[in-house]
Amino acid sequence: MRIGILGTGAMADALGRQWERAGHQVVAGSRSRGDVRDAAEHGTDAVLLAVPYAAVVGVVAGLGDALRGRVLIDCTNPVGGPDFGLLTTGGPAAAERIAAAAPGARVVKAFNLCHESVWRLTPPVFGGRPLAVPLCGDDEDALGVVRHLVRDLGCEPLHAGGLDRAGLLEATAALLVRLWVAEGADAQAIAPPLEFAGS
Ligand SMILES: NC(=O)c1ccc[n+]([C@@H]2O[C@H](COP(=O)([O-])OP(=O)(O)OC[C@H]3O[C@@H](n4cnc5c(N)ncnc54)[C@H](OP(=O)(O)O)[C@@H]3O)[C@@H](O)[C@H]2O)c1
Repeated sequence: MRIGILGTGAMADALGRQWERAGHQVVAGSRSRGDVRDAAEHGTDAVLLAVPYAAVVGVVAGLGDALRGRVLIDCTNPVGGPDFGLLTTGGPAAAERIAAAAPGARVVKAFNLCHESVWRLTPPVFGGRPLAVPLCGDDEDALGVVRHLVRDLGCEPLHAGGLDRAGLLEATAALLVRLWVAEGADAQAIAPPLEFAGS
């Protein structure tokens, strides 16, 4: 696949290296390295948006029609402040703001729940279980592309609903990051095994 990455930081490097290892052609760009427009134009199969939340709307809006029709993977977390608060409370999710700023792009929320160090593991398997990666999106073809890219990492994709549920993934990230970073808690322990899920 031809994959463009908007951003050249930690997430761009972690996921970009994995996809290169899987045989994909990856081009990344940012203000200081490469060029975001070149990356967007290269990414005919998928474009990963990996810039800080504060920059997302400006970056995608600035690309105009270059993202039309693109599978746009949103790994961003609108989380910040000393308490790791959700910066979108009371308004649309980051993924919905991105979709509104990039008309025609097929946005899929993915890869936002784990630290970049996890995405560098080959593969991310814990206790014999491959990491599950929840995806939210509305376009079935776009979801299929992202499922493929999830499996390239050695992870299992998990259908988490439409883009209207992306805010739940963003809120989950805020919850997990606070538990992990502020409390030093084993956040993985908050969910019981499936047989105790009450269904
Ligand atoms: N790090 C993690 O563990 C992790 C995990 C899950 C999700 N995320 C999310 O992933 C996103 C990226 O995180 P990161 O850790 O990769 O950040 P990072 O290491 O700080 O990298 C951010 C990148 O964005 C670029 N950038 C910033 N403003 C820009 C602009 N206006 N136009 C173009 N490029 C711009 C920066 O390059 P220039 O300054 O050169 O432009 C840099 O390459 C964030 O939204 C974060 O919430 C991060």
